[in-house]
Amino acid sequence: MAGEKARPRPLVAGNWKMNGLRSALAEAKAVADALAARSAPCPADVLICPPATLVMVMSEILKGTPVAIGAQDCHTEVSGAHTGDLSAEILVDAGATAIIVGHSERRADHDETDNYVHAKQRAVLRSGCLSIVCIGETAGQRRAGQTLDVVVRQLERSLDEGSTSFNTVIAYEPVWAIGTGLTPTVEDVAEVHAAIRDRLTSRFGDEGLAMRILYGGSVKPQNARELMHVPNVDGALVGGASLKAADFLGIIAAYG
Ligand code: 13P
Repeated sequence: MAGEKARPRPLVAGNWKMNGLRSALAEAKAVADALAARSAPCPADVLICPPATLVMVMSEILKGTPVAIGAQDCHTEVSGAHTGDLSAEILVDAGATAIIVGHSERRADHDETDNYVHAKQRAVLRSGCLSIVCIGETAGQRRAGQTLDVVVRQLERSLDEGSTSFNTVIAYEPVWAIGTGLTPTVEDVAEVHAAIRDRLTSRFGDEGLAMRILYGGSVKPQNARELMHVPNVDGALVGGASLKAADFLGIIAAYG
């Protein structure tokens, strides 16, 4: 199977969303300790994106471990009069090595458009961080048979020309699967990921082939193995199940 050839190293990323007091640092530390205690090397890249308040302390605590630290959003500018916002450069300075942009919750809560997400991704690339660009259809769009059109359009408009397999990861997160316990069938995931891969390779050539495409939406230890072995699924973006070390480790274990 073509998709099985030279698969990129998987990425398992946790998005803590608006959860996480300082007491939650123990969960991140437990993940790092468990991975360090393995006799075999860590089978995937592992990333935790806590609330911005914890980025600095978490990156200090987990320095030198297999767990990298990321952020959940950034502003488009480097600095300036933008009260309450954080630039990609500020997040890098705090220790972030990856930044999520275009999450459906930000698209919905803050009216973020594809063009705005594109500008944010450009900011992430400018900062030298890994950008994780989220796309995904709503339940209504899926019912109307618009899934592939929506996802490909979001991909097309949100992604910068300067995207490479080193600076960009795509996260396909069907909105209706987020936090609901519902997941698409493996056939549906395969279909969407194949459409994303097609678009990436026609736009970016070999780089598009090597770009990681994560699946997100109700990933749990119980369904991780099945979802993570679908062709063109190169890892997971995990919400709720990333908050508890045991669950997050259970998902990483899908890779052996
Ligand atoms: P859940 O894993 O809680 O469904 O959230 C997925 C998500 O939105 C990750 O960004």
